[in-house]
Amino acid sequence: MNAQQLLQEISDYCRQTGLAESTFGRRAVNDGKLANRLRNGGRITTDTLDRIRAFMADHRSDIMGRPALIPRAPDASPPIQTMPSFPTALPPAIHRIGLAAKPGEGDPQRNFRFFDNRQKYLLFVNTCSEKWVVAHRVSLELANIHPRPPAVRVFDAGVGDGSVLTRVMRAMHDRFPTMPFYMVGKEISLEDIRLTLQKVADRFVEHPATALVLTNLAYADAPWLHVKSLSAASSLVWHEVALAGTTAHRFEQQITELEPFLAENWKAGVSQKTGNPVYERPVVLVIYRDDHKFLLDPILPRPGGTQAGYDLVIASQPYRARASLEFKAKRVIAPLARALGAGGRLIAIHSHGNDPGHEIIQKVWPDDNPFIHDRHQIMKAVKQELGPSGRELNFNAYADNRSIFRYDMHTLPSEVSESIGTSTLFAAWNAAIYVAQVEDDRLETVHGAQRYLDATREVLRQHGGLWFFDESYVISRRRE
Ligand SMILES: C[S@@+](CC[C@H](N)C(=O)[O-])C[C@H]1O[C@@H](n2cnc3c(N)ncnc32)[C@H](O)[C@@H]1O
Repeated sequence: MNAQQLLQEISDYCRQTGLAESTFGRRAVNDGKLANRLRNGGRITTDTLDRIRAFMADHRSDIMGRPALIPRAPDASPPIQTMPSFPTALPPAIHRIGLAAKPGEGDPQRNFRFFDNRQKYLLFVNTCSEKWVVAHRVSLELANIHPRPPAVRVFDAGVGDGSVLTRVMRAMHDRFPTMPFYMVGKEISLEDIRLTLQKVADRFVEHPATALVLTNLAYADAPWLHVKSLSAASSLVWHEVALAGTTAHRFEQQITELEPFLAENWKAGVSQKTGNPVYERPVVLVIYRDDHKFLLDPILPRPGGTQAGYDLVIASQPYRARASLEFKAKRVIAPLARALGAGGRLIAIHSHGNDPGHEIIQKVWPDDNPFIHDRHQIMKAVKQELGPSGRELNFNAYADNRSIFRYDMHTLPSEVSESIGTSTLFAAWNAAIYVAQVEDDRLETVHGAQRYLDATREVLRQHGGLWFFDESYVISRRRE
């Protein structure tokens, strides 16, 4: 095959699918100029050719809703001119969310986060007090940290809708009103970044000395704002916004204007290899007040990486309950513990079970227990993972009465009386299945019958409401 034939295939594909050639190049091999380069006599590696054809084969059937027309390239290298390297950035196993497996296909655990889950999260966050209570618990840690100049440094390992982060920022202002804040939030979901940005404008008014950094980098990279893989680093998007003006309204306007930038860059997909979410390209967004740039200069991060040294790391619901102990320890909590500064504290919070929400689940699936690891097991595994470097850390499991806390579904007393309204029942069921992280394919089988609503009603009546328990633990680094 020659470059001309390949170009023809690409252009046919783009015409059929409605993609621009630049979008095609970016999605297939993270190179928007691919078609132009080929037209101008550029050469590509066999690996790039394989990725282009694999992309076309995989996505044609998804986009068009019919079987793939172009088969994957055979293993043997096709007779196209190749050269050792052609700049492409991301590993090939990246696909846009909308094009990933359908619910029920493959490992259901892998699909949990990405299908319909979003609406469940939003309904849960707005009908239950969890994120308030979590923010309160996290804020108690502010009494135990010892920030040093030039800033109080906080890392939120999964910002979600931003309600925990913004509440903690309010509590921080209350305790440290005059200290500069360096806040880094990791979040891969575009919708969550939008929800978070909607909540931050007033923070820059009450606490002008704030540098807020949002990034989609992975756990092992995000605290340092540094991408280890050279190829991914070459596609890093670093965007700084120096807010003009002094009012929340003006700040909100400028933050809202980020929308096209976010839509273009904050794209995620599902790794075909692991099923975990992956970014299309790494992004770091730095927001601060222009009139405080001078004061913030020592803490504003610069491309190329920065120190971690956090005073506080927030890990609220950072892993799936059913994920393996190894994943929780090695991939999530250990890198976060490494990012702590002297005297810094990592507070982790996850669902505990043994509550009325869990009772609803067990009435419908009697043998189900999603809460397979407790804080003791996780901290032991983290200690093992860290090896000798863990000696500088303290692992605080605390007694149950300090570690475990309760949050409730908001209900009025009249709502859980003789006849419980349907919307209350639906909200309660949603909260129960969300917290227990029940996969969609299991839900399909029970939603056809009345039993799940009866079970929910029985539990609400019996307890006069619905509540859940979360479990927390703290890993702290010794002060020097
Ligand atoms: C990165 S995390 C958490 C984001 C943010 N830190 C928060 O607490 O909302 C987002 C994922 O955590 C899970 N999650 C959030 N809250 C949960 C809860 N109360 N119980 C169980 N899982 C939860 C869901 O799978 C959700 O997609």
